[in-house]
Amino acid sequence: MQLGKNLENALNEQIREELASAYIYLSMAAYLETQNLTGFAHWMRQQSNEEMAHAIKFFEHINERGGRVLLQAIEQPPVDFDGPTDIFEQALKHEQYISSRIIDLYKLAQKEGEYASFSLLQWFVDEQVEEEESALQVLEYLRLIGEKGQGLLMLDRQLAQR
Ligand code: FEO
Repeated sequence: MQLGKNLENALNEQIREELASAYIYLSMAAYLETQNLTGFAHWMRQQSNEEMAHAIKFFEHINERGGRVLLQAIEQPPVDFDGPTDIFEQALKHEQYISSRIIDLYKLAQKEGEYASFSLLQWFVDEQVEEEESALQVLEYLRLIGEKGQGLLMLDRQLAQR
């Protein structure tokens, strides 16, 4: 059975969301570079790459299921931020938003009887647990050490390892 139109449309929208996520995180990386927080910037660029990989997973799934990938317009991402804590607060909020979208996709697949998409969507449900956790972890470190001094430099060095 071929992929139904409703889920196909929703998956195409999710490709846009994943690419928009990649764009947002790349913009955050660009800002972090201007602050000389190169470890933070590296972390965000890795995150941006992950989002590209997420988009490609949906892209491949639509193709494998005999659907048609239609790429949509992506908005300009935010370009000004108020330091790394602000960035990670926004990143966490964004991941929570993406998680809610993935749950909606899962519900739609159930409603439409799209069994062949369940395992992909389950992978994304699990992935979102990690995505939220990794943003929250950095945010909690930042709240602990504040945005100044030795602690920030050490965290920057640690994030460069990602
Ligand atoms: Fe693709 Fe960060 O969720």
